[in-house]
Amino acid sequence: MTTPPPPLLSEATIIDRVDQLAAEIDRDYSGIDELVLVGVLKGSFIFLSDLARRLTIARRIEFIAVSSYGDRASEEAGGSVRLLMDVRHDLAGEHVLIVEDIVDTGHTLAYLRRAFSARQPATLRTCTLLHKPDRTEEDVELDYVGFTIPDVWVVGYGLDFAERYRTLPYVAALPPELR
Ligand code: PRP
Repeated sequence: MTTPPPPLLSEATIIDRVDQLAAEIDRDYSGIDELVLVGVLKGSFIFLSDLARRLTIARRIEFIAVSSYGDRASEEAGGSVRLLMDVRHDLAGEHVLIVEDIVDTGHTLAYLRRAFSARQPATLRTCTLLHKPDRTEEDVELDYVGFTIPDVWVVGYGLDFAERYRTLPYVAALPPELR
């Protein structure tokens, strides 16, 4: 069993920020019937569950799964994302908030914004726990950002390295010797 990497963002720091984001979202959406939180599997599952439980407005949870092709042709074309699992309800006329754990190149969220706008929701916004601006290639609109972080490989609080470390309660920068 390897020793877990030390925190980059502690559990307390993350929870404080999730509290703030929930308060901000509550304020911004006060008066709506229902907010549809769409979590992007797998990485967002812990952030989404903490965020959703701190909101006080009416909300519904949906999940989607995407896959990115890492081949050279799609990299050159700016990345290629495909929807593997969709939401279970029509989003037309709904207030939709896409919830991500991390925005890296921005290809996933840019694709999702395009795909979900076409469904004519009443509003469409995005929320990510982490953003790596140094890596972001797409000019994607981020409405709620938990933390801006440097270009380091992060794990924990939903994020993995080869499916490891997802359930660490904090976010850690994974040192090269643990990769
Ligand atoms: C991560 C993350 C985002 C995407 C962001 O998912 O959860 O969905 O990458 O990267 P991008 O901004 O470069 O598009 P990943 O492919 O690691 O899958 P996982 O969430 O199932 O771990």
